Amino acid sequence: MATPANENNALLPQHVAVVMDGNGRWAKKRLLPRTAGHKAGVDATRRLVELSVKKGVRYLTIFAFSSENWNRPAHEVSSLMALFVSTLNAEVDKLDAQGVRIRFIGDRSRFASNLQDGIAAAERTTATNTRLCLNVAVNYGGRWDIVNAVREFANRLIDGLIEVADINEQSLGDALSLAGMPDPDLFIRTGGEQRISNFLLWQVAYTELFFTDALWPDFDEAAYDQALRWYASRQRRFGKTGEQVESGHVARVR
Ligand code: IPE
Ligand code: IPE
Ligand code: MG
Repeated sequence: MATPANENNALLPQHVAVVMDGNGRWAKKRLLPRTAGHKAGVDATRRLVELSVKKGVRYLTIFAFSSENWNRPAHEVSSLMALFVSTLNAEVDKLDAQGVRIRFIGDRSRFASNLQDGIAAAERTTATNTRLCLNVAVNYGGRWDIVNAVREFANRLIDGLIEVADINEQSLGDALSLAGMPDPDLFIRTGGEQRISNFLLWQVAYTELFFTDALWPDFDEAAYDQALRWYASRQRRFGKTGEQVESGHVARVR
């Protein structure tokens, strides 16, 4: 949250956040088990990362598993966990070779130790890469993120390290998962639903929201380009008037 989102109305989003939805319906249409949809979803995710690198997007945050997805049938949850482990093992070197830095956001304490180890190793291996910062949200919830930050503040307050006046939008933002990164400029949700589903609640305050009926495994370059073109056509006002934005007005309220 240290840097505000693209206030210069740049044509290419610096930070894209994606709710990759529709794997189950993609599989159902083909009379396949939902897990086949998740496998096809991994291919679409690999494509998204490669395309983001190619297009020059600097930050990509993807929703892979929400804190509410534990409520799915146990066999689906366990096959998703197995898919995370195998995907991590198979992809980390390729990501590293592309200059991608991978980070995970969410509460990883609930994962099996082999997955926690894989996550830590992937973060370590790619830690010095700078071409694209890929944030993978697993066991993530926007409310969890905010509660976590508030708890940290409460502890600091009790320990006398801060005062109430030290709690503000900047400092709270700096205690959230995506601290130090610009807020997402463009949010994409596939699968036809028009909701946030507890993804980055704080960080999407001024994000442009793009919804498409395409199911996640079908999300290809043409679909990505459509979202990017739509983004480029938006006028981001951040509370100002359109005329102020057109004249390059730079005064800030805060
Ligand atoms: C998104 O696809 C992937 C995860 C939530 C892990 P879904 O599995 O939600 O697919 P639909 O919405 O049932 O089609
Ligand atoms: C959102 O999709 C979470 C992920 C894509 C990981 P869901 O399929 O879980 O969302 P809802 O339940 O339809 O809102
Ligand atoms: Mg879904």
